[in-house]
Amino acid sequence: MNKKTDFLVIGSGIAGLSYALKVADAGKVSIVTKSELEETNTKYAQGGIAAVMREPDSFEKHINDTISCGDGFCTRKIVEMVIKEAPARIKELMEWGVEFARAPDGRFNLTKEGGHTGNRVLHHKDNTGEEIQRALMQKARNHQNIEILEHHFAIDLITQHHLGKKVKRSDKDIECYGAYVLDLKSSVVFPFLSKTTLIATGGIGNLYHTTTNPVIATGDGIAMVYRAKGKINDMEFVQFHPTSLCNQGERPSFLITEALRGFGAVLKTNDGKEFMYRYDQRGSLAPRDITARAIDQEMKTRGDDHVLLDATHLDPVKLKENFPNIYRKCKSIGIDITKDMIPVIPAAHYICGGINVDKNGKSSINRLYSIGEASYTGLHGANRMASNSLMEAVVFAHRSAKENKQLYNKFLLNENIPPWDLEGTNHPEEMVLITQNYKEMQQIMSNYVGIVRSDLRLKRALKRLKIIYQETEELYKKSTLSVKLCELRNMVNVSYLIIKMAQKLRESRGLHYMLDYPGKKTGMEF
Ligand code: FAD
Ligand code: SIN
Repeated sequence: MNKKTDFLVIGSGIAGLSYALKVADAGKVSIVTKSELEETNTKYAQGGIAAVMREPDSFEKHINDTISCGDGFCTRKIVEMVIKEAPARIKELMEWGVEFARAPDGRFNLTKEGGHTGNRVLHHKDNTGEEIQRALMQKARNHQNIEILEHHFAIDLITQHHLGKKVKRSDKDIECYGAYVLDLKSSVVFPFLSKTTLIATGGIGNLYHTTTNPVIATGDGIAMVYRAKGKINDMEFVQFHPTSLCNQGERPSFLITEALRGFGAVLKTNDGKEFMYRYDQRGSLAPRDITARAIDQEMKTRGDDHVLLDATHLDPVKLKENFPNIYRKCKSIGIDITKDMIPVIPAAHYICGGINVDKNGKSSINRLYSIGEASYTGLHGANRMASNSLMEAVVFAHRSAKENKQLYNKFLLNENIPPWDLEGTNHPEEMVLITQNYKEMQQIMSNYVGIVRSDLRLKRALKRLKIIYQETEELYKKSTLSVKLCELRNMVNVSYLIIKMAQKLRESRGLHYMLDYPGKKTGMEF
């Protein structure tokens, strides 16, 4: 049985929900999300959302900082557009009920994070994402035109391929008619037909062993678009957050926000010595690519399994007031951050590349849009600056919604889509076939395609990944679908894209550091 809608939204984080709220006055919106509505990367965001709110900050400064972090790979006109539109979107978030911290004089309490030359990060204590997710969910749940389908997993996009036509990546006329969706409660796969489709499926952290991302971040949207022959860009730029709590066995890793360093906390080696100034004049607040690499280097040289973040010299009352969740979390494992240094390690955190979209979030496939972390807009370049991600999501939600509201009624629902083909599939006999390949994929990506790479490591990674790819495809063809199998298949696709793009870029730039090519190739600066 088919389901039909005007606007199909895949994903319920800041990108999916804010887009849904904006198109909902025009027609029927259906949000499918594979877990509970709130289980998103968005919910875990700590530091905040960047925007120019008052002098002495300026658009020019925010633009320059973003481009400098992006290490020459940002698209300047996109950076300018996003940063200039951000304040209006912040205002809207507040109108939707999001509360940002204010100083006693009523002005925003703006914080600073790595790469920012001034205070420009709006936040809600140290759980900004949870506050945004709460407000957006409340609005979406109360909107009569928004249908929410939790525990629904989007498997593949529907295009002319499903009508028997051969589709090539170079084709300009590929069209998306919706997606095949697996209802996880009934185990039924059905075509969800839509006039337009939005991919807002977030990040890829689970490709790696250590990540700040929740379990939902498996790159599904990027893999779906790749399989549908859409264009994907810049996947080699995987961002590792420098400071996740080193707490053996905990997954996802608990983040220690960069805002704590903005507040004055300092990175030190295990013998209590500062080391960041040896790597960058900005010390502990250098951009993430530099900081994560410096930590990796110190850990490897010294043979340590973590470094330390020292906040013990800061005012304890203000520390607890501004970082209540970090204080509580650390206390729960015996660390009092007002007295003890915090053991931290880098963790996979954010993908700068993704589905190639234009200035309104339109992908290379007609009737298909993508916004949020799954997309590649040109904003982040080779290294995203802290707190620019939530900002990008709301700016592109606005632009995509505006375009889609004008266009969607020009598209007809395609009623000829065949049902999902179940022929020859059975329940996999052994789950270990999936779990073992999942572990191997994470090991390959973590050991060979992590913070520091080399030609040899990438070559080995690809060779081993190909075996996992073949085994997973064979299993997929003969199995009834499960979330674990679909996610593994997607993560293998995304790993392949990261490795292939990393192999192509024969230089070190931003988050992509190659031992064989430690310098930059050309002067591509602006
Ligand atoms: P998400 O919020 O991840 O939402 C993705 C949605 O897609 C989820 O609902 C998921 O279930 C759904 N989904 C995925 N695949 C499927 C599928 N196959 N079928 C159906 N549904 C699917 N950025 C900042 O700017 N500031 C910060 O302070 C900040 N802090 C962060 C802290 C942490 C710990 C983490 C992990 C990230 C942080 N980031 C921060 C990054 C930022 O949170 C994310 O980039 C952003 O929230 C992504 O939003 P999104 O809507 O694109 O995706
Ligand atoms: C953090 O709070 O350190 C994360 C900010 C981000 O990823 O933008």
